[in-house]
Amino acid sequence: MDVHRLPTLLLCSLCAGWTCGSAYTDPGELYPSSSIKFGMNGLSCLFWKWTPPSISANCSVQYTAEILKEPRTEMPAGVRDKYPYFTKYFEPRIDLNNNLTLKVQTTCENRTSEVKLFTSPLTTGNSRTMVRNMTCIWHYNEYVNCTWRPGEVVPPNVNYSLRYWFYNSNECPSVGNKQPTPFHDLLDKGEPCQNYTYQSGIPVGCVFKFEQSLKEYKRLVAVVTGGSQDIKPYIYFTCANNIAKLKAPVITDIKIIPNNTLLVRWNESDVPLTVNYQGQLEMSDGHKVIVTVLQGGSMEFPDISPDITYTVKVRVNLMKKAMCFLDPYEQRKDLLWSDWSEEKKIMAIEDKRIRFLVIFLPVVLFITVTTVLLLFYMRRLLFRICPRIPDPSKVLSSDFQHWLKYGKAVYEPKKEEVCVVSLLETSLSSSQVE
Ligand SMILES: *[C@@H]1O[C@H](CO)[C@@H](O)[C@H](O)[C@H]1NC(C)=O
Ligand SMILES: *[C@@H]1O[C@H](CO)[C@@H](O)[C@H](O)[C@H]1NC(C)=O
Ligand SMILES: *[C@@H]1O[C@H](CO)[C@@H](O)[C@H](O)[C@H]1NC(C)=O
Ligand SMILES: *[C@@H]1O[C@H](CO)[C@@H](O)[C@H](O)[C@H]1NC(C)=O
Ligand SMILES: *[C@@H]1O[C@H](CO)[C@@H](O)[C@H](O)[C@H]1NC(C)=O
Ligand SMILES: *[C@@H]1O[C@H](CO)[C@@H](O)[C@H](O)[C@H]1NC(C)=O
Ligand SMILES: *[C@@H]1O[C@H](CO)[C@@H](O)[C@H](O)[C@H]1NC(C)=O
Ligand SMILES: *[C@@H]1O[C@H](CO)[C@@H](O)[C@H](O)[C@H]1NC(C)=O
Ligand SMILES: *[C@@H]1O[C@H](CO)[C@@H](O)[C@H](O)[C@H]1NC(C)=O
Repeated sequence: MDVHRLPTLLLCSLCAGWTCGSAYTDPGELYPSSSIKFGMNGLSCLFWKWTPPSISANCSVQYTAEILKEPRTEMPAGVRDKYPYFTKYFEPRIDLNNNLTLKVQTTCENRTSEVKLFTSPLTTGNSRTMVRNMTCIWHYNEYVNCTWRPGEVVPPNVNYSLRYWFYNSNECPSVGNKQPTPFHDLLDKGEPCQNYTYQSGIPVGCVFKFEQSLKEYKRLVAVVTGGSQDIKPYIYFTCANNIAKLKAPVITDIKIIPNNTLLVRWNESDVPLTVNYQGQLEMSDGHKVIVTVLQGGSMEFPDISPDITYTVKVRVNLMKKAMCFLDPYEQRKDLLWSDWSEEKKIMAIEDKRIRFLVIFLPVVLFITVTTVLLLFYMRRLLFRICPRIPDPSKVLSSDFQHWLKYGKAVYEPKKEEVCVVSLLETSLSSSQVE
Protein backbone atom coordinates (compact mmCIF):
# COMPACT_ATOMS: atom_id res chain seq x y z
CA MET A 1 0.00 0.00 0.00
CA ASP A 2 2.85 2.37 0.86
CA VAL A 3 4.43 1.61 -2.47
CA HIS A 4 1.26 2.75 -4.25
CA ARG A 5 0.94 5.93 -2.29
CA LEU A 6 4.46 7.21 -2.77
CA PRO A 7 4.30 8.06 -6.51
CA THR A 8 0.99 9.87 -6.02
CA LEU A 9 2.47 11.95 -3.23
CA LEU A 10 5.50 12.79 -5.32
CA LEU A 11 3.35 13.82 -8.25
CA CYS A 12 1.20 15.98 -6.07
CA SER A 13 4.08 17.79 -4.42
CA LEU A 14 5.63 18.46 -7.81
CA CYS A 15 2.54 20.10 -9.16
CA ALA A 16 1.36 21.78 -5.93
CA GLY A 17 -0.12 24.77 -7.65
CA TRP A 18 -2.97 25.21 -10.00
CA THR A 19 -3.63 21.62 -10.91
CA CYS A 20 -2.90 18.25 -9.52
CA GLY A 21 -3.88 15.12 -11.38
CA SER A 22 -4.84 12.05 -9.44
CA ALA A 23 -6.68 9.66 -11.67
CA TYR A 24 -5.53 6.66 -9.70
CA THR A 25 -8.29 4.90 -7.85
CA ASP A 26 -8.20 2.07 -5.47
CA PRO A 27 -11.36 0.61 -3.97
CA GLY A 28 -11.44 1.34 -0.27
CA GLU A 29 -9.11 4.32 -0.59
CA LEU A 30 -10.07 8.04 -0.89
CA TYR A 31 -8.13 10.38 -3.06
CA PRO A 32 -7.82 14.14 -2.75
CA SER A 33 -9.45 16.53 -5.17
CA SER A 34 -7.78 17.38 -8.42
CA SER A 35 -7.64 20.11 -11.05
CA ILE A 36 -8.09 23.05 -8.73
CA LYS A 37 -8.90 26.39 -10.33
CA PHE A 38 -8.59 29.54 -8.33
CA GLY A 39 -9.94 33.04 -8.88
CA MET A 40 -12.83 35.26 -7.89
CA ASN A 41 -16.55 34.81 -7.36
CA GLY A 42 -18.01 38.29 -7.83
CA LEU A 43 -16.11 41.36 -6.69
CA SER A 44 -15.35 40.31 -3.15
CA CYS A 45 -15.10 36.52 -2.85
CA LEU A 46 -12.24 34.13 -3.38
CA PHE A 47 -13.24 31.02 -5.27
CA TRP A 48 -11.59 27.60 -5.61
CA LYS A 49 -13.21 24.91 -7.72
CA TRP A 50 -12.05 21.37 -8.38
CA THR A 51 -13.07 18.18 -10.15
CA PRO A 52 -14.49 15.61 -7.78
CA PRO A 53 -12.27 12.58 -7.40
CA SER A 54 -13.68 9.33 -8.76
CA ILE A 55 -14.88 7.28 -5.86
CA SER A 56 -15.54 3.57 -6.24
CA ALA A 57 -16.70 3.13 -2.69
CA ASN A 58 -20.44 3.42 -2.03
CA CYS A 59 -20.53 6.46 0.27
CA SER A 60 -21.41 10.18 0.10
CA VAL A 61 -18.39 12.38 -0.53
CA GLN A 62 -17.75 15.61 1.31
CA TYR A 63 -14.91 18.10 1.31
CA THR A 64 -13.32 19.97 4.15
CA ALA A 65 -11.67 23.17 3.01
CA GLU A 66 -9.96 26.07 4.69
CA ILE A 67 -7.55 28.88 3.80
CA LEU A 68 -4.16 28.80 5.38
CA LYS A 69 -2.38 32.00 6.14
CA GLU A 70 1.33 32.26 5.66
CA PRO A 71 3.17 31.88 7.90
CA ARG A 72 0.84 29.06 8.81
CA THR A 73 -1.08 30.13 11.83
CA GLU A 74 -3.93 28.25 13.40
CA MET A 75 -7.14 28.81 11.51
CA PRO A 76 -10.70 27.91 12.41
CA ALA A 77 -11.72 24.37 11.55
CA GLY A 78 -12.45 23.88 7.89
CA VAL A 79 -15.87 24.15 6.31
CA ARG A 80 -17.53 20.89 5.31
CA ASP A 81 -19.51 20.84 2.09
CA LYS A 82 -20.67 18.29 -0.44
CA TYR A 83 -19.94 20.62 -3.39
CA PRO A 84 -16.52 20.52 -5.02
CA TYR A 85 -15.68 24.16 -4.42
CA PHE A 86 -14.87 26.64 -1.69
CA THR A 87 -15.74 30.33 -1.79
CA LYS A 88 -14.91 32.86 0.89
CA TYR A 89 -15.39 36.63 1.18
CA PHE A 90 -12.44 38.93 1.70
CA GLU A 91 -11.25 39.17 5.27
CA PRO A 92 -8.48 41.29 6.70
CA ARG A 93 -6.65 38.20 7.93
CA ILE A 94 -6.34 36.93 4.37
CA ASP A 95 -3.37 38.60 2.74
CA LEU A 96 -4.66 39.06 -0.79
CA ASN A 97 -1.26 40.16 -2.11
CA ASN A 98 0.55 37.05 -1.01
CA ASN A 99 0.29 33.42 -2.01
CA LEU A 100 -2.92 31.90 -0.79
CA THR A 101 -3.06 28.29 0.26
CA LEU A 102 -6.20 26.21 0.36
CA LYS A 103 -6.18 23.04 2.42
CA VAL A 104 -8.65 20.40 1.15
CA GLN A 105 -9.54 16.97 2.32
CA THR A 106 -12.08 14.52 0.92
CA THR A 107 -14.18 12.58 3.36
CA CYS A 108 -16.60 9.74 2.79
CA GLU A 109 -18.52 8.49 5.78
CA ASN A 110 -15.83 7.67 8.25
CA ARG A 111 -12.93 7.65 5.80
CA THR A 112 -10.72 10.60 4.91
CA SER A 113 -8.25 11.27 2.15
CA GLU A 114 -4.86 12.75 2.70
CA VAL A 115 -4.80 16.56 3.10
CA LYS A 116 -3.98 18.50 -0.02
CA LEU A 117 -2.53 22.04 -0.14
CA PHE A 118 -3.07 24.25 -3.18
CA THR A 119 -0.98 27.39 -3.27
CA SER A 120 -1.41 30.21 -5.72
CA PRO A 121 -1.32 34.01 -5.82
CA LEU A 122 -4.60 35.75 -6.64
CA THR A 123 -2.96 38.12 -9.12
CA THR A 124 -0.19 37.50 -11.59
CA GLY A 125 3.10 39.32 -12.06
CA ASN A 126 6.38 39.72 -10.24
CA SER A 127 5.64 40.72 -6.67
CA ARG A 128 8.66 43.04 -6.64
CA THR A 129 6.83 45.26 -9.16
CA MET A 130 3.83 45.70 -6.86
CA VAL A 131 3.45 49.14 -5.24
CA ARG A 132 4.33 49.29 -1.55
CA ASN A 133 3.10 50.96 1.64
CA MET A 134 -0.33 51.64 0.27
CA THR A 135 -2.71 53.32 2.71
CA CYS A 136 -6.02 55.06 2.32
CA ILE A 137 -7.75 57.55 4.59
CA TRP A 138 -11.43 58.38 4.34
CA HIS A 139 -11.93 62.04 5.21
CA TYR A 140 -15.33 61.25 6.54
CA ASN A 141 -18.17 61.88 4.18
CA GLU A 142 -15.98 63.65 1.66
CA TYR A 143 -13.24 61.72 -0.07
CA VAL A 144 -10.78 58.85 0.21
CA ASN A 145 -7.09 59.65 -0.15
CA CYS A 146 -4.90 56.69 -1.13
CA THR A 147 -1.13 56.90 -1.27
CA TRP A 148 1.61 54.39 -2.11
CA ARG A 149 5.29 54.08 -2.92
CA PRO A 150 6.47 52.68 -6.23
CA GLY A 151 7.47 49.00 -6.24
CA GLU A 152 10.97 47.71 -5.59
CA VAL A 153 11.28 47.27 -9.34
CA VAL A 154 9.96 50.20 -11.36
CA PRO A 155 9.82 49.43 -15.09
CA PRO A 156 10.38 52.42 -17.39
CA ASN A 157 7.26 54.42 -18.28
CA VAL A 158 5.34 52.89 -15.39
CA ASN A 159 1.89 54.43 -15.09
CA TYR A 160 0.19 53.29 -11.90
CA SER A 161 -3.56 53.67 -11.87
CA LEU A 162 -6.18 52.98 -9.24
CA ARG A 163 -9.58 51.39 -9.50
CA TYR A 164 -11.92 50.88 -6.60
CA TRP A 165 -15.25 49.45 -5.58
CA PHE A 166 -17.42 49.35 -2.47
CA TYR A 167 -19.79 46.69 -1.21
CA ASN A 168 -21.46 45.99 2.09
CA SER A 169 -22.01 42.37 2.80
CA ASN A 170 -20.13 39.32 3.88
CA GLU A 171 -22.01 37.07 1.53
CA CYS A 172 -20.77 35.45 -1.63
CA PRO A 173 -22.85 35.18 -4.81
CA SER A 174 -24.13 31.71 -5.57
CA VAL A 175 -21.69 29.61 -7.50
CA GLY A 176 -23.90 27.46 -9.76
CA ASN A 177 -21.91 26.36 -12.77
CA LYS A 178 -19.63 29.39 -12.68
CA GLN A 179 -15.92 29.05 -13.01
CA PRO A 180 -13.51 31.20 -11.01
CA THR A 181 -12.86 34.57 -12.72
CA PRO A 182 -9.23 35.66 -12.96
CA PHE A 183 -8.83 38.73 -10.72
CA HIS A 184 -7.52 40.77 -13.61
CA ASP A 185 -10.81 40.42 -15.48
CA LEU A 186 -12.65 42.22 -12.68
CA LEU A 187 -10.63 45.40 -12.87
CA ASP A 188 -12.83 46.89 -15.59
CA LYS A 189 -15.76 46.71 -13.18
CA GLY A 190 -14.02 49.02 -10.71
CA GLU A 191 -14.43 52.78 -10.82
CA PRO A 192 -11.30 54.47 -12.21
CA CYS A 193 -9.78 57.07 -9.91
CA GLN A 194 -9.26 60.40 -11.69
CA ASN A 195 -7.33 62.70 -9.39
CA TYR A 196 -3.70 61.53 -9.11
CA THR A 197 -0.72 63.09 -7.39
CA TYR A 198 2.70 62.53 -8.92
CA GLN A 199 6.25 62.27 -7.67
CA SER A 200 8.99 62.52 -10.31
CA GLY A 201 6.29 61.95 -12.91
CA ILE A 202 5.09 58.69 -11.32
CA PRO A 203 1.59 58.50 -9.79
CA VAL A 204 1.91 57.94 -6.02
CA GLY A 205 -1.57 58.79 -4.82
CA CYS A 206 -5.15 59.31 -5.84
CA VAL A 207 -8.22 60.96 -4.34
CA PHE A 208 -11.80 59.89 -5.01
CA LYS A 209 -15.15 60.99 -3.62
CA PHE A 210 -16.93 58.87 -1.07
CA GLU A 211 -20.00 60.43 0.52
CA GLN A 212 -21.66 57.71 2.57
CA SER A 213 -22.80 57.29 6.14
CA LEU A 214 -20.65 55.34 8.57
CA LYS A 215 -23.79 53.35 9.31
CA GLU A 216 -23.40 51.59 5.96
CA TYR A 217 -20.26 49.77 7.14
CA LYS A 218 -19.01 49.64 3.55
CA ARG A 219 -16.05 47.56 2.49
CA LEU A 220 -13.55 49.11 0.13
CA VAL A 221 -11.36 47.40 -2.43
CA ALA A 222 -8.79 49.64 -4.13
CA VAL A 223 -6.42 48.14 -6.67
CA VAL A 224 -3.29 49.78 -8.05
CA THR A 225 -2.11 48.39 -11.35
CA GLY A 226 0.75 49.43 -13.61
CA GLY A 227 0.36 50.08 -17.28
CA SER A 228 1.44 46.55 -18.23
CA GLN A 229 0.66 42.94 -17.28
CA ASP A 230 4.15 42.47 -15.84
CA ILE A 231 3.33 44.77 -12.99
CA LYS A 232 1.58 42.87 -10.26
CA PRO A 233 -1.56 44.66 -9.02
CA TYR A 234 -1.68 45.62 -5.36
CA ILE A 235 -5.02 44.95 -3.66
CA TYR A 236 -5.93 47.20 -0.75
CA PHE A 237 -8.87 45.92 1.17
CA THR A 238 -10.48 47.35 4.28
CA CYS A 239 -13.68 48.50 5.87
CA ALA A 240 -14.35 52.18 5.17
CA ASN A 241 -15.12 52.85 8.86
CA ASN A 242 -11.71 51.55 9.87
CA ILE A 243 -9.99 54.27 7.83
CA ALA A 244 -12.47 57.07 8.62
CA LYS A 245 -10.94 60.29 9.87
CA LEU A 246 -13.46 62.71 11.36
CA LYS A 247 -13.35 66.49 11.14
CA ALA A 248 -11.55 68.26 13.97
CA PRO A 249 -13.89 69.66 16.66
CA VAL A 250 -14.30 73.44 16.92
CA ILE A 251 -13.76 74.82 20.44
CA THR A 252 -16.59 77.23 21.20
CA ASP A 253 -15.85 78.18 24.81
CA ILE A 254 -13.08 77.90 27.39
CA LYS A 255 -13.24 79.24 30.95
CA ILE A 256 -12.20 78.71 34.55
CA ILE A 257 -15.06 77.64 36.75
CA PRO A 258 -15.08 77.39 40.58
CA ASN A 259 -12.89 74.82 42.27
CA ASN A 260 -9.91 75.61 40.03
CA THR A 261 -11.39 73.75 37.11
CA LEU A 262 -10.96 74.56 33.46
CA LEU A 263 -14.00 73.93 31.28
CA VAL A 264 -13.76 73.45 27.51
CA ARG A 265 -16.74 73.23 25.20
CA TRP A 266 -16.79 72.36 21.53
CA ASN A 267 -19.20 71.81 18.70
CA GLU A 268 -20.43 68.25 18.97
CA SER A 269 -19.76 66.00 16.02
CA ASP A 270 -22.76 65.02 13.87
CA VAL A 271 -21.39 61.51 13.33
CA PRO A 272 -24.06 58.77 13.64
CA LEU A 273 -21.85 56.42 15.70
CA THR A 274 -20.31 56.76 19.16
CA VAL A 275 -17.17 58.87 19.34
CA ASN A 276 -14.36 59.58 21.81
CA TYR A 277 -13.10 63.09 22.42
CA GLN A 278 -9.60 63.64 23.66
CA GLY A 279 -8.53 66.94 25.15
CA GLN A 280 -4.98 67.99 25.80
CA LEU A 281 -4.10 70.67 28.33
CA GLU A 282 -0.59 72.05 28.06
CA MET A 283 0.92 74.28 30.72
CA SER A 284 3.42 77.03 30.01
CA ASP A 285 6.18 74.79 31.45
CA GLY A 286 5.46 72.15 28.82
CA HIS A 287 3.68 69.75 31.19
CA LYS A 288 0.71 68.00 29.53
CA VAL A 289 -2.51 66.41 30.73
CA ILE A 290 -4.73 64.29 28.46
CA VAL A 291 -8.37 63.56 29.20
CA THR A 292 -10.67 61.34 27.12
CA VAL A 293 -14.44 61.44 27.26
CA LEU A 294 -17.15 59.49 25.52
CA GLN A 295 -19.57 61.56 23.39
CA GLY A 296 -20.61 64.92 24.88
CA GLY A 297 -19.61 68.48 24.07
CA SER A 298 -17.43 69.47 27.02
CA MET A 299 -14.75 68.32 29.42
CA GLU A 300 -13.14 69.59 32.61
CA PHE A 301 -9.54 69.74 33.75
CA PRO A 302 -9.20 69.99 37.55
CA ASP A 303 -6.36 71.46 39.66
CA ILE A 304 -5.82 74.59 37.62
CA SER A 305 -3.18 76.88 39.17
CA PRO A 306 -3.11 80.67 38.94
CA ASP A 307 -0.70 82.63 36.77
CA ILE A 308 -0.06 79.78 34.35
CA THR A 309 -1.04 80.03 30.72
CA TYR A 310 -2.94 76.94 29.64
CA THR A 311 -3.26 75.82 26.04
CA VAL A 312 -6.13 73.50 25.19
CA LYS A 313 -6.96 71.50 22.07
CA VAL A 314 -9.42 68.70 21.32
CA ARG A 315 -9.65 65.87 18.80
CA VAL A 316 -12.14 63.11 18.07
CA ASN A 317 -12.24 59.53 16.83
CA LEU A 318 -14.76 56.74 16.46
CA MET A 319 -15.25 54.12 19.12
CA LYS A 320 -13.63 50.83 18.32
CA LYS A 321 -17.02 49.20 17.93
CA ALA A 322 -17.58 51.30 14.80
CA MET A 323 -15.10 49.04 13.02
CA CYS A 324 -16.39 46.29 10.76
CA PHE A 325 -13.77 43.71 11.64
CA LEU A 326 -13.62 42.62 15.20
CA ASP A 327 -11.63 39.43 14.78
CA PRO A 328 -8.16 39.14 16.33
CA TYR A 329 -6.54 39.57 12.93
CA GLU A 330 -7.87 43.08 12.36
CA GLN A 331 -5.54 45.39 10.51
CA ARG A 332 -5.90 48.48 12.64
CA LYS A 333 -6.01 48.32 16.42
CA ASP A 334 -7.31 51.86 16.85
CA LEU A 335 -9.40 54.12 14.75
CA LEU A 336 -7.82 57.23 13.31
CA TRP A 337 -7.88 60.45 15.30
CA SER A 338 -9.08 63.63 13.66
CA ASP A 339 -6.65 66.51 13.45
CA TRP A 340 -6.44 68.58 16.62
CA SER A 341 -8.81 71.51 16.88
CA GLU A 342 -7.43 75.02 16.87
CA GLU A 343 -5.60 75.72 20.14
CA LYS A 344 -7.13 78.05 22.71
CA LYS A 345 -5.19 79.77 25.50
CA ILE A 346 -6.36 80.92 28.90
CA MET A 347 -4.67 82.20 32.07
CA ALA A 348 -6.09 81.39 35.47
CA ILE A 349 -6.28 84.22 38.03
CA GLU A 350 -5.96 83.46 41.70
CA ASP A 351 -9.25 83.14 43.57
CA LYS A 352 -8.38 85.88 46.09
CA ARG A 353 -7.71 88.31 43.34
CA ILE A 354 -10.90 87.37 41.59
CA ARG A 355 -12.76 88.07 44.83
CA PHE A 356 -10.91 91.37 45.16
CA LEU A 357 -11.81 92.32 41.65
CA VAL A 358 -15.40 91.19 41.97
CA ILE A 359 -16.10 92.91 45.30
CA PHE A 360 -13.74 95.89 45.47
CA LEU A 361 -13.62 97.02 41.92
CA PRO A 362 -17.28 98.22 41.92
CA VAL A 363 -16.70 99.97 45.26
CA VAL A 364 -13.67 101.81 43.93
CA LEU A 365 -15.57 102.71 40.81
CA PHE A 366 -18.52 104.01 42.82
CA ILE A 367 -16.28 106.22 44.94
CA THR A 368 -14.52 107.62 41.91
CA VAL A 369 -17.73 108.45 40.11
CA THR A 370 -19.27 110.03 43.18
CA THR A 371 -16.20 112.20 43.71
CA VAL A 372 -16.22 113.40 40.17
CA LEU A 373 -19.90 114.26 40.35
CA LEU A 374 -19.38 116.03 43.64
CA LEU A 375 -16.56 118.11 42.23
CA PHE A 376 -18.69 119.07 39.28
CA TYR A 377 -21.55 120.27 41.43
CA MET A 378 -19.18 122.11 43.74
CA ARG A 379 -17.77 124.02 40.86
CA ARG A 380 -21.25 125.20 39.99
CA LEU A 381 -21.89 126.14 43.62
CA LEU A 382 -18.67 128.08 43.70
CA PHE A 383 -19.76 130.27 40.86
CA ARG A 384 -23.02 130.93 42.56
CA ILE A 385 -21.59 131.77 45.97
CA CYS A 386 -18.67 133.89 44.87
CA PRO A 387 -19.49 135.57 41.60
CA ARG A 388 -16.93 137.97 40.10
CA ILE A 389 -17.34 141.44 41.72
CA PRO A 390 -15.14 144.40 40.84
CA ASP A 391 -13.01 145.66 43.71
CA PRO A 392 -14.63 148.99 44.72
CA SER A 393 -11.51 150.19 46.59
CA LYS A 394 -9.39 149.84 43.53
CA VAL A 395 -11.96 151.50 41.39
CA LEU A 396 -12.69 154.30 43.78
CA SER A 397 -9.53 155.18 45.74
CA SER A 398 -6.99 155.76 43.01
CA ASP A 399 -9.19 157.32 40.40
CA PHE A 400 -11.75 159.06 42.54
CA GLN A 401 -10.34 162.49 41.79
CA HIS A 402 -10.10 161.69 38.18
CA TRP A 403 -13.61 160.47 38.19
CA LEU A 404 -14.81 163.60 39.87
CA LYS A 405 -12.98 165.66 37.28
CA TYR A 406 -13.84 163.85 34.12
CA GLY A 407 -16.84 161.74 35.21
CA LYS A 408 -15.25 158.62 33.74
CA ALA A 409 -13.88 155.57 35.47
CA VAL A 410 -10.71 153.83 34.48
CA TYR A 411 -11.24 150.30 35.67
CA GLU A 412 -8.69 147.70 34.96
CA PRO A 413 -9.03 144.64 37.19
CA LYS A 414 -5.52 143.22 37.68
CA LYS A 415 -6.29 139.72 38.72
CA GLU A 416 -9.30 137.48 38.92
CA GLU A 417 -10.38 136.77 42.45
CA VAL A 418 -10.37 133.13 43.43
CA CYS A 419 -12.71 131.65 45.93
CA VAL A 420 -11.05 128.52 47.32
CA VAL A 421 -13.31 125.55 47.89
CA SER A 422 -11.95 124.89 51.34
CA LEU A 423 -12.68 128.47 52.31
CA LEU A 424 -16.11 128.17 50.93
CA GLU A 425 -16.71 124.98 52.83
CA THR A 426 -15.62 126.52 56.09
CA SER A 427 -17.78 129.53 55.49
CA LEU A 428 -20.67 127.26 54.69
CA SER A 429 -20.19 125.05 57.71
CA SER A 430 -19.66 128.06 59.95
CA SER A 431 -22.88 129.53 58.67
CA GLN A 432 -24.58 126.24 59.41
CA VAL A 433 -23.16 126.26 62.90
CA GLU A 434 -24.49 129.77 63.41
C1 LIG B 1 -25.00 2.02 -2.05
O1 LIG B 1 -25.61 2.09 -0.72
C2 LIG B 1 -27.00 2.36 -0.76
C3 LIG B 1 -27.46 2.47 0.65
O2 LIG B 1 -26.59 3.15 1.45
C4 LIG B 1 -27.70 1.24 -1.49
O3 LIG B 1 -29.07 1.54 -1.55
C5 LIG B 1 -27.11 1.07 -2.86
O4 LIG B 1 -27.70 0.00 -3.49
C6 LIG B 1 -25.63 0.87 -2.82
N1 LIG B 1 -25.08 0.84 -4.15
C7 LIG B 1 -24.11 -0.02 -4.51
C8 LIG B 1 -23.68 0.05 -5.89
O5 LIG B 1 -23.62 -0.79 -3.68
C1 LIG C 1 4.21 32.00 -4.19
O1 LIG C 1 4.39 30.67 -4.57
C2 LIG C 1 5.23 30.48 -5.68
C3 LIG C 1 5.27 29.01 -5.97
O2 LIG C 1 4.01 28.48 -5.89
C4 LIG C 1 6.62 31.00 -5.32
O3 LIG C 1 7.45 30.87 -6.46
C5 LIG C 1 6.52 32.45 -4.92
O4 LIG C 1 7.77 32.91 -4.50
C6 LIG C 1 5.54 32.59 -3.81
N1 LIG C 1 5.35 33.98 -3.55
C7 LIG C 1 5.40 34.49 -2.35
C8 LIG C 1 5.19 35.95 -2.23
O5 LIG C 1 5.59 33.80 -1.36
C1 LIG D 1 -15.68 2.81 9.59
O1 LIG D 1 -16.42 1.98 8.67
C2 LIG D 1 -15.98 0.64 8.66
C3 LIG D 1 -16.71 -0.11 7.58
O2 LIG D 1 -17.84 0.53 7.13
C4 LIG D 1 -16.24 0.04 10.03
O3 LIG D 1 -15.78 -1.28 10.03
C5 LIG D 1 -15.55 0.84 11.07
O4 LIG D 1 -15.87 0.40 12.35
C6 LIG D 1 -15.92 2.33 11.00
N1 LIG D 1 -15.11 3.08 11.92
C7 LIG D 1 -15.62 3.97 12.68
C8 LIG D 1 -14.64 4.66 13.56
O5 LIG D 1 -16.80 4.25 12.66
C1 LIG E 1 6.80 50.61 4.22
O1 LIG E 1 6.33 49.41 4.84
C2 LIG E 1 7.36 48.65 5.44
C3 LIG E 1 6.75 47.38 5.98
O2 LIG E 1 5.59 47.04 5.33
C4 LIG E 1 8.01 49.45 6.55
O3 LIG E 1 9.07 48.71 7.12
C5 LIG E 1 8.54 50.74 5.99
O4 LIG E 1 9.02 51.53 7.03
C6 LIG E 1 7.45 51.50 5.26
N1 LIG E 1 8.03 52.67 4.63
C7 LIG E 1 7.46 53.85 4.69
C8 LIG E 1 8.17 54.96 4.00
O5 LIG E 1 6.42 54.04 5.28
C1 LIG F 1 -3.33 62.72 0.73
O1 LIG F 1 -2.34 62.13 1.55
C2 LIG F 1 -1.04 62.62 1.32
C3 LIG F 1 -0.10 61.84 2.21
O2 LIG F 1 -0.53 61.78 3.50
C4 LIG F 1 -0.98 64.11 1.58
O3 LIG F 1 0.30 64.58 1.31
C5 LIG F 1 -2.01 64.81 0.73
O4 LIG F 1 -2.05 66.17 1.05
C6 LIG F 1 -3.39 64.21 0.95
N1 LIG F 1 -4.33 64.81 0.04
C7 LIG F 1 -5.54 65.19 0.43
C8 LIG F 1 -6.39 65.82 -0.62
O5 LIG F 1 -5.94 65.03 1.56
C1 LIG G 1 -1.70 56.87 -17.24
O1 LIG G 1 -2.94 56.27 -16.93
C2 LIG G 1 -4.02 57.18 -16.85
C3 LIG G 1 -5.23 56.43 -16.36
O2 LIG G 1 -5.20 55.10 -16.70
C4 LIG G 1 -4.25 57.81 -18.21
O3 LIG G 1 -5.29 58.73 -18.12
C5 LIG G 1 -2.96 58.52 -18.63
O4 LIG G 1 -3.11 59.02 -19.92
C6 LIG G 1 -1.79 57.57 -18.59
N1 LIG G 1 -0.58 58.34 -18.81
C7 LIG G 1 0.39 57.92 -19.61
C8 LIG G 1 1.58 58.79 -19.71
O5 LIG G 1 0.30 56.88 -20.24
C1 LIG H 1 -8.49 66.79 -7.01
O1 LIG H 1 -8.16 66.84 -5.64
C2 LIG H 1 -7.88 68.14 -5.16
C3 LIG H 1 -7.49 68.00 -3.73
O2 LIG H 1 -6.49 67.09 -3.59
C4 LIG H 1 -9.09 69.03 -5.33
O3 LIG H 1 -8.77 70.32 -4.93
C5 LIG H 1 -9.52 69.01 -6.78
O4 LIG H 1 -10.70 69.73 -6.92
C6 LIG H 1 -9.74 67.60 -7.26
N1 LIG H 1 -10.04 67.61 -8.68
C7 LIG H 1 -11.01 66.88 -9.20
C8 LIG H 1 -11.18 66.98 -10.67
O5 LIG H 1 -11.70 66.14 -8.52
C1 LIG I 1 -14.54 71.10 44.95
O1 LIG I 1 -13.60 70.06 45.04
C2 LIG I 1 -13.71 69.28 46.22
C3 LIG I 1 -12.59 68.26 46.22
O2 LIG I 1 -11.68 68.49 45.23
C4 LIG I 1 -15.06 68.61 46.25
O3 LIG I 1 -15.21 67.89 47.45
C5 LIG I 1 -16.14 69.65 46.16
O4 LIG I 1 -17.39 69.02 46.07
C6 LIG I 1 -15.95 70.51 44.93
N1 LIG I 1 -16.93 71.57 44.92
C7 LIG I 1 -17.59 71.90 43.84
C8 LIG I 1 -18.54 73.03 43.98
O5 LIG I 1 -17.41 71.33 42.76
C1 LIG J 1 -21.23 75.05 15.79
O1 LIG J 1 -22.25 74.34 15.14
C2 LIG J 1 -23.38 75.14 14.83
C3 LIG J 1 -24.41 74.26 14.20
O2 LIG J 1 -24.14 72.92 14.43
C4 LIG J 1 -22.98 76.26 13.88
O3 LIG J 1 -24.06 77.07 13.64
C5 LIG J 1 -21.87 77.07 14.52
O4 LIG J 1 -21.41 78.02 13.60
C6 LIG J 1 -20.73 76.17 14.91
N1 LIG J 1 -19.76 76.96 15.60
C7 LIG J 1 -18.49 76.96 15.22
C8 LIG J 1 -17.60 77.83 16.03
O5 LIG J 1 -18.09 76.28 14.30
